[in-house]
Amino acid sequence: MLGRFVLVLGIVGCSRSSTPVCEPPVTINEGEDFRPAFHFSPPSGWMNDPNGLVFADGEYHLFYQHNPDSIQWGNVHWGHAVSADLLTWQDLPIALAPNDTLGWAFSGSAVIDAGNTSGQCAGDDCMVAVYTHAGGDDGLQKQSVAFSGDAGRSFAEYAGNPVLPNPGDEPDFRDPRVFRYRDRWIMALASGDRAELFSSEDLLNWTELSEFGPISDASFPPWTWEVVDLFALQVDGEERWVLKTDLLSRPLGPTTGRYWVGNFDGTRFTIPDTEPPAGRVFDGGADFYAAISYNGLPAGEQIWIGWQASWGYALSIPTEPWRGSMSVPRLLRLVDDGEGLVLTQTPYGVEAGREECPLVDLSSEPTLARVREALAAVSGDVLDIELGIRIPSGQGGLAVRTSEEGERTEVLYDADARELQVDRRSSGEPIDIEGFHTVHRLPMRPQDLVEIRILVDRASVEAFADDGRAVISDLIFPAPSSQGLALVEAPSMSVAYLRVYRMRDVASRVP
Ligand code: FRU
Repeated sequence: MLGRFVLVLGIVGCSRSSTPVCEPPVTINEGEDFRPAFHFSPPSGWMNDPNGLVFADGEYHLFYQHNPDSIQWGNVHWGHAVSADLLTWQDLPIALAPNDTLGWAFSGSAVIDAGNTSGQCAGDDCMVAVYTHAGGDDGLQKQSVAFSGDAGRSFAEYAGNPVLPNPGDEPDFRDPRVFRYRDRWIMALASGDRAELFSSEDLLNWTELSEFGPISDASFPPWTWEVVDLFALQVDGEERWVLKTDLLSRPLGPTTGRYWVGNFDGTRFTIPDTEPPAGRVFDGGADFYAAISYNGLPAGEQIWIGWQASWGYALSIPTEPWRGSMSVPRLLRLVDDGEGLVLTQTPYGVEAGREECPLVDLSSEPTLARVREALAAVSGDVLDIELGIRIPSGQGGLAVRTSEEGERTEVLYDADARELQVDRRSSGEPIDIEGFHTVHRLPMRPQDLVEIRILVDRASVEAFADDGRAVISDLIFPAPSSQGLALVEAPSMSVAYLRVYRMRDVASRVP
């Protein structure tokens, strides 16, 4: 990147001894200790939600909430990047800027209007952004559209905006999630304490169809709905629908989200009696928010990306000259575990970013001594780890980003509580908010062999367990030198396998 100084820390080859040792070049931009190596972050400025995820003509588009002038939220634009593999991203010019009269460009979707249903497109491959204008002369949130004839490189705002005005009394009316359904367009919108569904034939005139929510269940947080997503997945040849919402606490604190699995008949999203009324948690960590899924993927398949932060402290994240990063893309599936269909998430495309030879490659039930020895011999701050363990009781797993001074982030299975846990109490630099240094937990099904995939980047840990049913995503801010790995041993624990790969620096824009 222009004006960036690149620090090369080491260049060594790959050698094979009893434990294969791979020491690839590791590079970071000077002064950017927390710059992710394989998670998207903007070159500079503020970033929050992913927007307009659409796959078209071999390109995965990632638009995002962006303040180009500051690392504070505000002056909201849509930034833009594209990728051929969802791993390596190319930055493109800003796609949407605030409108003087209508307001800032809040979150929304992008679709390809293949039939020029809007009548506003020059050709058949027009990209249409459907998004919220927030503020402006009336101070309200309302939905607008913009058209691009050059694959999202530039957009023209529709002269008739907004296409869906605020009903007049709803302070929170935003984040249109638009997709093609049969012969029309559907929009799912976050509206106060519920989702509202609309349909349109031309993306310009919208008719209200139905509502989902509010949820009157004691365990459901009474918070503002944001970034509703609605998408279909195939299960055993049948289509099932997932509705997801994020929940913004007031006053701003920890954020969370819920999803329900049900049916969508073109008008209503409904859930079976077996579905928990308060929905299910899709990420037990603090830092996976505002996820949306891709338009343009083959029918029945879905991948989503979330923002790695939590509104409770997003504005205090200690990075400069940018603030904000995305999760890795996650492939979504529905599986029947006997208590209804549940969503699973698996990192998508990350393997392609691994260095070729693993830092640790221990299969076939290695002894704990062997595992300890292998871990003591390696280090790394950008890692993709596969761990299989057996734990009859107690807590065991792996500590990552450790230092001799005691920094460590632990990814654990608690056999007594049957939980996946990420413990970031000693993870490093504290963020100035109560509750940052906590343990995040998510229930898992009882299991003999516990398999955990752990993605470690310079400022994050994502743990995937229970075949993708249990996922915890947390930001961490360790010292750059905290690169150790250690086994956390439960009584009678054994290791079935451990593979540790270093990730290549694909996202930090080092040339
Ligand atoms: C979610 C959110 C959206 C809104 C956007 C504003 O993080 O609050 O509801 O459109 O961010 O940047």
